[in-house]
Amino acid sequence: MLNAEENNFQTLKIMRAAPVIPVLVLDDAGTAQPLAEALISGGLPVLEVTLRTDAALDSIRAMANVPGAILGAGTVLNASDVASAKDAGATFAVSPGVTDELLVAAAEADLPLLAGAVTASEVMALLARGYRTAKFFPAGTSGGAPALKALSSPLPQMTFCPTGGVSPENANDYLSLPNVACVGGSWVAPKMAIESGDWGHIADLARDASKLR
Ligand code: 3PG
Repeated sequence: MLNAEENNFQTLKIMRAAPVIPVLVLDDAGTAQPLAEALISGGLPVLEVTLRTDAALDSIRAMANVPGAILGAGTVLNASDVASAKDAGATFAVSPGVTDELLVAAAEADLPLLAGAVTASEVMALLARGYRTAKFFPAGTSGGAPALKALSSPLPQMTFCPTGGVSPENANDYLSLPNVACVGGSWVAPKMAIESGDWGHIADLARDASKLR
């Protein structure tokens, strides 16, 4: 049973491992291992494979043994997703929002969870349960960096990973904030580069992203 304090410790460690968490949407599990290797070689070891495609769980299985990977499942919405993610080899989970069911399931499965919160009330609800890390999603349309900056005054205890609409151009706006530990984004793993197996390009994008902040 992972209590909230231990969840904070584990998720913060993951969030501090690299400035960018690649958000990966994979249609072919055959691309998973070389993709993970390219991202890690470029300096981004924390990977979020979204549970949005039929290939997602097989992709996590394929990445689980890649040396250096800190492997998470994204778009984890309920207890069933928690069980599938854990079974496939994910060592943490990310959710766009939060429900009681999800918090309990992740805690019971010993799976560190980065749950989503954007409003002051959502942040307060997580804080009230002892959680001090959160995904800020969708970042761009939820007020972006100015919204996070505003939240840092009354609610400085919460540390965020903004995701959704983050790009190389605006990543530093987020990363320079005191309540942001990392950002999430799909730009480091473009669909076309994955489909064409252009791992060199993806490693280059990861290298640039790893130097942000
Ligand atoms: C997602 O859930 O797809 C992520 O938030 C990624 O968003 P992005 O494509 O804007 O980086």
